Amino acid sequence: MKSQFKRLTSLALSLSLALGISLPAWASSDTSVDNKVNFSTDVIYQIVTDRFADGDQANNPAGDAFSGDRSNLKLYFGGDWQGIIDKINDGYLTGMGVTALWISQPVENITSVIKYSGVNNTSYHGYWARDFKQTNDAFGDFVDFQNLIDTAHANNIKVVIDFAPNHTSPADRDNPGFAENGALYDNGALLGTYSNDSAGLFHHNGGTDFSTIEDGIYKNLYDLADINHNNNTIDAYFKTAIDLWLDMGVDGIRFDAVKHMPFGWQKSFVSSIYGGDHPVFTFGEWYLGTDQIDGDNIKFANESGMNLLDFEYAQEVREVFRDKTETMKDLYTVLASTESQYDHINNMVTFIDNHDMDRFQVAGAGTRATEQALTLTLTSRGVPAIYYGTEQYMTGDGDPNNRAMMTSFNTGTTAYKVIQTLAPLRKSNPAIAYGTTTERWVNNDVLIFERKFGSSVALVAINRSTSASYPISGLLSSLPAGTYSDELGGLLNGNSITVGSSGAVTNFTLAAGGTAVWEYTASETSPAIGNVGPTMGQPGNTVTIDGRGFGGTAGTVYFGTTAVAGSGIVSWEDTQIKVLVPNVTAGKPGVSVKTSSGTASNTFTSFNVLTDDQVTVRFLVNQAATDYGTNVYLVGNVAELGSWDPDEAVGPMYNQVIAKYPTWYYDVSVPAGKKLEFKFIKSNGSTVTWEGGGNHTYTTPASGVGTVTVDWQN
Ligand code: NOJ
Ligand code: NOJ
Ligand code: CA
Ligand code: CA
Repeated sequence: MKSQFKRLTSLALSLSLALGISLPAWASSDTSVDNKVNFSTDVIYQIVTDRFADGDQANNPAGDAFSGDRSNLKLYFGGDWQGIIDKINDGYLTGMGVTALWISQPVENITSVIKYSGVNNTSYHGYWARDFKQTNDAFGDFVDFQNLIDTAHANNIKVVIDFAPNHTSPADRDNPGFAENGALYDNGALLGTYSNDSAGLFHHNGGTDFSTIEDGIYKNLYDLADINHNNNTIDAYFKTAIDLWLDMGVDGIRFDAVKHMPFGWQKSFVSSIYGGDHPVFTFGEWYLGTDQIDGDNIKFANESGMNLLDFEYAQEVREVFRDKTETMKDLYTVLASTESQYDHINNMVTFIDNHDMDRFQVAGAGTRATEQALTLTLTSRGVPAIYYGTEQYMTGDGDPNNRAMMTSFNTGTTAYKVIQTLAPLRKSNPAIAYGTTTERWVNNDVLIFERKFGSSVALVAINRSTSASYPISGLLSSLPAGTYSDELGGLLNGNSITVGSSGAVTNFTLAAGGTAVWEYTASETSPAIGNVGPTMGQPGNTVTIDGRGFGGTAGTVYFGTTAVAGSGIVSWEDTQIKVLVPNVTAGKPGVSVKTSSGTASNTFTSFNVLTDDQVTVRFLVNQAATDYGTNVYLVGNVAELGSWDPDEAVGPMYNQVIAKYPTWYYDVSVPAGKKLEFKFIKSNGSTVTWEGGGNHTYTTPASGVGTVTVDWQN
């Protein structure tokens, strides 16, 4: 019944597209499974592939690497892509309403069993790669992988792969016999090993102590053989490897350990994905601890072109609902501060637990906190990612206890129903996908917040206390006058509300543990931009603008004051415009839309226009002595080098690992095949000292990576 309905839906969609009939909200292009550059309307389900479902026992590893009774959590358990296919086909995943799956890194991993202090360890998690152009046999072969993609797509589900180009596998330089010596293969051909690395594929700087960003990038993360991205073989290898997966239809990439790879290389890498045949949504993992706010993390999210997992959000939700160490007032403070810190807040990937944290559900505790944290996440800004088994209230502190085999596939749990009920709202109501967030009522236990986009509104109330109910008076909302029933249908003790013509909500009592979602979806007549994806691109790239009220007839898109119409518009629908980035000055010109009848939209301010194709160049400057507290920065004649504005200079540069003070270095994403002019500056945050002499010049490579070294000019 369900799958028949789905088929009818896509038939209706193609028919109505062909006939030019306007579509109901649930069938908008911005919400389609084909929209690979916008995940704001999606709900991601994170699967540790080995731990979800074993659909093919024939591919299970033999011998020491396998735990048949699933008692040894560091060994393979047998989960695979066929198992995920089975769980799509039997309705477990589609029934929950999730619209994207994030699966373990799919690439070939080492197969050896590694002993640490006498304990066996394996690559069941997928983070110990050997060949990024082959599959992990325990998960399946390329036929299985293609089947997974095709089955997912046929069920309106996207597939996100984990990808970890920071490292291969554990290695010990002084002991080539340890594990597989970090070996890296190119589709079966050995490129090099960690202890025999004549091609310079790896860093050999020891392990990081995590003391600085630089230390974490250029030294090994634990004992993992650290990739040297300032190497032409490596750069070309990863670009062709990711293309292979994208060609198969992958819809998104979760980049592992982005704090530990040169930022310039990552920016040029994702810009090549965005400019290639298959631009997709990307998000990185940069771990933040409880209450940690990190300016470098924020800068990465705003400038790299990649989005990030929202650790600030996750840690706060855990404090408020799981550990009860902070209040609902603190929660709103974080919702508000993150909205001002992060330029692309609707692209941040939100979550309440994952494979690197204690599971959210506390053993022996009630389940309401989990259900409320899910409700919050499903209705908040950002793309929700739900960790497998959270809907089954799985427990487990720390790695590997947080990665047990999926315990059951019960479609009747309250958490499963919460996801099932709320996930579709992300597609039907743009206030949930794209809206701003406003506090409407708060005390230590209760938060009532509103999401608003155009005239669409969602109002969400959560009382985390399971013993106290609260009278709610003086509540205002943007909902039009009327009576609204709880979208959750009272599943979490929510009530309906009545709204007067001024937006005043009639007083009511929010029950203990009460959680309700009230919403109104407007049919929008004025244009409103919700998302621009990707958030970075060069002239000629196709960019997707999602929102509402663009109208059925093509109008004009503006990049700053530069108008794009006619052949610069690839497609124009009421909820989605595809446009070619025009030849404008690189930077952030602001993107806006004017309908064919001349009504202007809001401006999306953070789209970053690049000068051209990007390559990574390592800039080194020798003899740049500074006073304590003063750092060296790079500035030059292109937007990527700050267009001569010292406030936009690149850096602070590094001076400890690859080269040492008074030499400074930095890996930068710059336009390919261009003659750059640049200088270095010294700055202590207030006083800037420019280098003397003429500008340095350097012509960047047309592809691959480059290095330029100069002496500081007094
Ligand atoms: C972060 C991943 O999430 C974690 O599970 C993994 O062990 C490390 N990166 C190294 O790949
Ligand atoms: C910007 C100029 O364009 C550049 O050539 C010069 O070196 C610096 N300012 C410092 O004066
Ligand atoms: Ca299997
Ligand atoms: Ca690294």
